[in-house]
Amino acid sequence: MPATVQGSNPFLTTLTRASSTLAVTVADDICDSHGIKLISAGQILTANMLARLAQRESSRPLESSVCVNGGVTPDDMACAATRVCQGSIFIATIVGTGFTSIKRAYHTISLPPFFHLMLSIQQATYPGQFAHGILCSLVASLLARMQGGPNDNAHLAMLAALAHDLGEMYGNPDHKTLIAGASRDRWQTVVAHPTIGKRLIERFTDCPASIAQAVGEHHERLDGSGYPRGISGEAISPLGRVLGLADTICGVIKAPGNHGARAKLAVSFVPGEFDPSLVRRFIETLAGTSAAEIALPASFDAGAARERAKQIGQGLENASHAIATLASAPVDDPHLAKIVAFAQQRIGRLKLSWDATGIDAYCALESAADTAMKIDEESYFDVDVVARELVWRMRSLSRRLVILRHQYRLDGYGALEPAVAALELE
Ligand SMILES: [Fe+2]
Ligand SMILES: [Fe+2]
Repeated sequence: MPATVQGSNPFLTTLTRASSTLAVTVADDICDSHGIKLISAGQILTANMLARLAQRESSRPLESSVCVNGGVTPDDMACAATRVCQGSIFIATIVGTGFTSIKRAYHTISLPPFFHLMLSIQQATYPGQFAHGILCSLVASLLARMQGGPNDNAHLAMLAALAHDLGEMYGNPDHKTLIAGASRDRWQTVVAHPTIGKRLIERFTDCPASIAQAVGEHHERLDGSGYPRGISGEAISPLGRVLGLADTICGVIKAPGNHGARAKLAVSFVPGEFDPSLVRRFIETLAGTSAAEIALPASFDAGAARERAKQIGQGLENASHAIATLASAPVDDPHLAKIVAFAQQRIGRLKLSWDATGIDAYCALESAADTAMKIDEESYFDVDVVARELVWRMRSLSRRLVILRHQYRLDGYGALEPAVAALELE
């Protein structure tokens, strides 16, 4: 069990949050570590009972002692999936005629009791995250079909996608994203959620091992640029590849408008991050979405996009400079030298992809006040999309650097701070 789960008992915090809206019931007697019964089976957990549980250590994990009366149903999941399709032309188009069978799949999926418990809590307390899981399950199911293999792969992909971010519920819900100068607590929530999710599934369900593995891998990338372990290539399971790509595609839905173009860029901006055959098949399905998806969002502000792109490009430049400074200084610690070399290589890849878009040149032309070279709004929309993708990758790299720093116990060095801070754009 991860230390964060047992140490501060974040599940109790989650239960407390959920108990005001959900009937969380004790499935088996809860006893303390001496075998003294604290709460009998059948009771609905109240705030007082939860306060009592916070004072004593229970003999068994609460995760396997409680359940939710009612809670999420197959209909809830199918309805949520329908809402997702109604809310995004892009999703509706790529899912297409496959939606009928996917919708049916929500009724045939057998949710392990732990998934039912956690998804019910998520639905009641973090509806946005629940909707993200549903969206991800739709896309993952679609990608698993594209990947081929046994028929039940699509089912496994749906289950893994529903559970992929459950590890976030074991951290502070406000700490889902990183900010410059972030606290250790915030870092841990973000970087640890794939591993926590994997371990929870291994401990509290009898799901096939491939599901837990995929959840642990959903932020890993084929070129080794992901986190938490930085594994690459064949080390990432087929289901892990599906989940990583599905999660990335679902990320573009958060931004308004032109989801087809956003998704295409998200999966191909830095070549080598995702399974190329899966990316190719996915991009083929986008062909039918362009007509419905080319409209610029009404709120789009070309000037703001240009300024933001400049700021992001400068952030990458600053990070590159900070790492180059470290690389040029004598480094005694071989671990630090290894991290610096990794960061330099990764920032180099990002700069290459960024430069290849010609965005810096766009911005420079605009600044030169050459009216004949005025860039149109559509081009700045592309700039905006690419810039967002770069921000994600810069954040991912900063997370990886912090993990490596903790892994090699470099906390006291502070040498990486300037690079980490430069990569962490708001
Ligand atoms: Fe995640
Ligand atoms: Fe996610």
